[in-house]
Amino acid sequence: MCGIFGMIGQNAVKTTLDSLRYLEYRGYDSAGIAVKRKEGLEWTKCMGRISELQKKAQGMAESDIAIGHTRWATHGRVCEQNAHPFVSEDGAFAIVHNGILENYLELKKELPNVHFSSQTDSETVAHMLSAVYRGDVLEAVLAVAKKLQGSFAIAIMSVYDNKLYAVKNKSPLVVGVSRNGTYLCSDVGCASRQAEQVALAEDNTVAVLSDKGVRFFDFDGQERRAKFFVAEQSAELQTEEGDVMLKEIFEIPQKIRASRQGYLQSGGLRLSDEEARRLKRIYLVGCGTAYNSGSQVACVARNFLDIDILPVIASEFIYDNYPVGEDTLAFLISQSGETADTLRAAEKIRHSGGITYAVTNNACGSLGFLCDYVSNVCAGAEFAVASTKAYNCQLVTLTLLLADIAVSRKTLSVQVRKDILCGLEEVAVASEQLLTDVYPLVRLAEELKKCSAVFYIGRLSDYPTACEGSLKLKEISYIHSEAYPAGELKHGTLALMEEGVAVIALATDEAMAGKIAYSVTEVVSRGARVISVGHAFPEAENIPLPKVHPYLADIISVIPLQLLAYYTAKSLSRDVDKPRNLAKSVTVE
Ligand code: M6R
Repeated sequence: MCGIFGMIGQNAVKTTLDSLRYLEYRGYDSAGIAVKRKEGLEWTKCMGRISELQKKAQGMAESDIAIGHTRWATHGRVCEQNAHPFVSEDGAFAIVHNGILENYLELKKELPNVHFSSQTDSETVAHMLSAVYRGDVLEAVLAVAKKLQGSFAIAIMSVYDNKLYAVKNKSPLVVGVSRNGTYLCSDVGCASRQAEQVALAEDNTVAVLSDKGVRFFDFDGQERRAKFFVAEQSAELQTEEGDVMLKEIFEIPQKIRASRQGYLQSGGLRLSDEEARRLKRIYLVGCGTAYNSGSQVACVARNFLDIDILPVIASEFIYDNYPVGEDTLAFLISQSGETADTLRAAEKIRHSGGITYAVTNNACGSLGFLCDYVSNVCAGAEFAVASTKAYNCQLVTLTLLLADIAVSRKTLSVQVRKDILCGLEEVAVASEQLLTDVYPLVRLAEELKKCSAVFYIGRLSDYPTACEGSLKLKEISYIHSEAYPAGELKHGTLALMEEGVAVIALATDEAMAGKIAYSVTEVVSRGARVISVGHAFPEAENIPLPKVHPYLADIISVIPLQLLAYYTAKSLSRDVDKPRNLAKSVTVE
């Protein structure tokens, strides 16, 4: 799970290094670059971020051909030897790879005399190319491509010609062209910063880039066509001082409005009344934060929809036997639109005849292309690894989509749908209010940072919010944290309650406050301290919430949790924007 970039054109070193910074969301534990010179290939790599590579590559002369890589370790620990590019022993081929080669151990056996310098699966490709090369690079690339199993987007350069070759199966590969050069890249947004037009390579494709343009072949060498289009450029990276995550949290009010507006301007729900009425079940499929948003909206929608609505974790959906047919609609939720598990789930649903509907923050991403319909959540580019504003916007878009299905099915009145739409402006105002005085949260964070564990509890739609708060905290502070439906505590987890443990109790629904009160008493009497969000309890410190439409309350109740996670991580001096072991977009299964 990594980012690759390659180009033929002027200033290839500078452009490649600069582009790799945009791909850092795909991994940031080590990085490298290789260039072609008259004398042969030259490369450099290092552990750490692209900024480290930029320092290391400072003395590197410019070139017209380069490939680069930013890594998120899968095979082999994080160290310089395992960083890409990998070069064949004869120095003739250099490669960078995003994905996983499932059969690399078998392939290695075909190279008994080769000395491998890394523990990676990827290195095998460089040595195989050199082993099969008989005077034609394309032939060698095709021969190797046919042997590979797994997911891969591999960029290849050689001493033998002035071309770049890219081999693709399952991992994303975008190819771009402009007057100044030809490009290959892991994502559309980054490619379109350089290219005037881009094309998404199909699976089992070899792309050949030259200074004249790009040609595509299948693995048998038959030429293929690809559709080029003009894509939106990705937003510029933040250059000013300060944490991106905090900046993104503070954008929430503005993005809630953008999300509502974007939904209306794009025409809202794409299904006809007839299609909506035919539905028997709806799945909300995603990973991590995206799953939590689906899970949250499913709870709300059960109040007004008369069919089965089920949130499912994408990586489970792929292998489980959930029923799918023509009467099935699946919302595939993904901020990046590139998450491998979600893409695989979408493919499975399509294959089984279901309707696929992407709810994404990147309509030009792979998910948008794969699904029958797309709704852009309009959160604006999100760079911090911990997702915040995209979650709030996913809730807005999904609530509107499900409300519109309910209106088509006549289980929700047009008036309530109108109330929800108007209520979203109140939600934006309420979120502004929550962001005006963060001092109490900064103070609470100072306490939380000393806790051995933090549990989040809630009932009904407060439970997914609890999951999201807990995910945020563990992801960036590294404090152990779990979330439970409040009623479940007494079935086991109560054993962990003691001094030094904190419990965050979500209580946005007054009707359920009495039930949460039991849980609060139970944990306080075992020595844990409790912070409640919404309803105030005598034994707990309280974070009050402004009142909004009940179907929309969870869009704001998560904000104090996002801030608490941020301030706690900050006071522990964590790298909040790029936490350890993670990546912004998880492009391997
Ligand atoms: O891009 P996606 O929304 O598909 O990403 C899904 C998860 O990987 C993502 O939400 C992850 O859980 C976040 N880092 C959470 O903050």
